[in-house]
Amino acid sequence: MTPPGERKPLVLVARHLLAAGMERLATECRIVEGGLDATAERLRELAPGAVAIVADPTVGVDEVLLDAAGPQLRVVANFAVGYDNVDLEACRRRGVMVANTPDVLTNATAELALALALAAARRVGEAQADLRAGRWTGWDPGAYLGLELSGATFGVVGLGRIGHRYAELVRGLAGEILYTSRTPKPAAERALGASRVGLGELLRRADVVSLHVPATPETAELIGRDELVTMKSHSVLVNTARGPLVVAAALADALREGSIGAAGLDVYEEEPAVPAELLEAPRCVLLPHIGSATTRAREAMARLVAANALAALSGVEPPNRVA
Ligand code: DGY
Repeated sequence: MTPPGERKPLVLVARHLLAAGMERLATECRIVEGGLDATAERLRELAPGAVAIVADPTVGVDEVLLDAAGPQLRVVANFAVGYDNVDLEACRRRGVMVANTPDVLTNATAELALALALAAARRVGEAQADLRAGRWTGWDPGAYLGLELSGATFGVVGLGRIGHRYAELVRGLAGEILYTSRTPKPAAERALGASRVGLGELLRRADVVSLHVPATPETAELIGRDELVTMKSHSVLVNTARGPLVVAAALADALREGSIGAAGLDVYEEEPAVPAELLEAPRCVLLPHIGSATTRAREAMARLVAANALAALSGVEPPNRVA
């Protein structure tokens, strides 16, 4: 791609990229890496001259960073399927392409949603914490009684790639699968035996509610106090999508007051901060945003992010362009 004697184009890897992606980028580009603790200010210092920025969900790609990079910037390749961290309009105005890494993390994220549903329903977090702290005094027929998921009604909010895979995974357990979607999905309904309902009905009827929609202005605070009070008192709420979908204080109250049964969360509004009320809430399994954290998924994401950046730099449509 780079003619002999010319300097390779500069790519800013905002934080860190696994070797699977770094090696591909390094064949064609010079790379500057911000590191895991790169601040917004540090990224602005590193950005000038970059033709590509490899970002991730923790990196705000805004007007200021885009301007710091300069007019030669061609692409923002996001190491994630979600791209709410990227100001798409600001990129469009500058003619900067944006790409993400879908598909390769679908299984990993859907599996984690199932893991959280099971862990929350069966009180795995508190049971393990008690054992490790030496509070387990022996088998007790009345201890840690949880919710059995066989025959349960599963509510899938958003039947995109991850929601669909999650529905496939829970099918063996589910008595019924309900889903919400802006458009009907007749093929998925046939394949999964799922029924499309509105969010209100899903919340009222489901034993397990799992969120699989992106963070947008429309989905902000999708689940707040008004929604939580309509859920069953034994129900489980799972969020592996994005923190802003759920009002953390309202969820903590609902868990404390017993208006829902349990929750399993992998994402938070101001990561890595976890709201204190959630840390203190009962029956709440909390994970540090590991939805896509399998070796297979993360290595594939790294290769895909590099492929997206390199395609854009050689004037070809990136395979996963979103803007
Ligand atoms: C994504 O891809 O959006 C995930 O949150 C990253 O794990």
